[in-house]
Amino acid sequence: MDLGSKVNARAKPLREAYGAYNSTREIGVDEELSRVGRGTPCGEYFRRFWQPVCLSEHLKDLPKRIRILGEDLVAFRDGSGRVGVLELHCSHRGTSLEYGKIQQRGISCCYHGWQFDVDGRILDTPGEPAGSPIKDRICHGAYPTHEWMGLVFAYMGPPDKKPAFPVYDAFERPDAEFLHRYRFSPCNWLQVRENEMDPVHLSFLHTRLFGVQFQPVYGEIPSMEWHETPIGMCYLTVRRWGDNLYLRVNDAIAPNICRIAGIDDGEGEVVFDRRGAAMNWVVPVDDTNTLNIGFGDIDKNLPLEGRDAYTDRMNRAGQYAVGAGDVGQTGEPTYEQRQRAPGDWDAWVSQGEITKHGREHLGFTDQGVVMYRKLVRDGIRAVAEGRDPKGLLREGTNAPIMTYCHNTVKPVPKAATQEADHAQSIAFGRAILKQMLDGTLSKRNVGAEMAGDFTFPPKS
Ligand code: FES
Ligand SMILES: [Fe+2]
Repeated sequence: MDLGSKVNARAKPLREAYGAYNSTREIGVDEELSRVGRGTPCGEYFRRFWQPVCLSEHLKDLPKRIRILGEDLVAFRDGSGRVGVLELHCSHRGTSLEYGKIQQRGISCCYHGWQFDVDGRILDTPGEPAGSPIKDRICHGAYPTHEWMGLVFAYMGPPDKKPAFPVYDAFERPDAEFLHRYRFSPCNWLQVRENEMDPVHLSFLHTRLFGVQFQPVYGEIPSMEWHETPIGMCYLTVRRWGDNLYLRVNDAIAPNICRIAGIDDGEGEVVFDRRGAAMNWVVPVDDTNTLNIGFGDIDKNLPLEGRDAYTDRMNRAGQYAVGAGDVGQTGEPTYEQRQRAPGDWDAWVSQGEITKHGREHLGFTDQGVVMYRKLVRDGIRAVAEGRDPKGLLREGTNAPIMTYCHNTVKPVPKAATQEADHAQSIAFGRAILKQMLDGTLSKRNVGAEMAGDFTFPPKS
């Protein structure tokens, strides 16, 4: 396993009880994956993709100050409806444009009225003598923007490398109700992102340890595998639920998108290809702060009682239920509430500003984390070598890009032994993933050939 070749100081394993005195004091972080500022390898990787930077609803009559990938910026919508993302500090003498005045065209700095268009061109320097050449000589720093599904995206990379904007099938769900998310965590992006490829924490953090935050079925440690997909990677987890096998698939879309399946299926309910419940971009604000931005897409067909029961469970667990899958995603509950019923936020923030990768002891269930780090590392190195990283869309597509995230629950008789049931669970999950990729999945044949062995995606 590639455990992070850029960790600069590893802890020496302790081999004796009461041995803390001998713990290694200087422990390193994985610099390659953690640093996102301009000119860093991971920062350049992120700068090859469109990233959401704020919500459309943030852009009303006032500018919005934002910080993304270590850069201070201002976002605004001008009087003609165009969105700008500009460097925060005015090109004249550095006053922040968060105090600027939005104009019919662009924004004016509050100090001396220099007016900037959404593309950074200087439209006016009103205090300067008529005919001043300044505005024709320089431009203010600006990034291209794209608004989609209530999210404002910016492309912060080299202008000649701008990719097409990827439209995923998750954006196009007539059966779903959409609810936006915008939350901050005071820690490095990677530890927030890795949470999603770690299905085992559902059994402990969300189910066994602090009262049932999720359905009791999540207390089962699933049969699980991680697979590469054309858009990144995914996990498949299969749990025995009475007479049913319960498959849950989550996508990790390169570079930093979590596509998360729902947790609201009812006990005993048979479910066919129930689509995801959330799409989150884990956007680095800087090296030690992270923005979780995206939307919940909640199946309108879910029985309302199921959703009420979910809210009820969350409330009993002492966490806020803002929408499906939102449990424990902020530091809003009191410290005591969070100690009594910690959530994902507490788990990833408490790892430290940047978790010390050099003191980790990764196990079997961390395969998803290891694989995700490799996906990012390969992308970083591709960019450094002048190649396109995986997941980058160079040309637009006619159809939305397929995601694999979903739940399927089907009656499958329990096998004679636990090992045999585990084997058939994995075979069931693999068969469905294979059918998704082949385009042969249907309600009638779901998981039909329980493929024992396949690679995903298949070798061409
Ligand atoms: S500092 Fe912005 S116009 Fe002078
Ligand atoms: Fe979680």
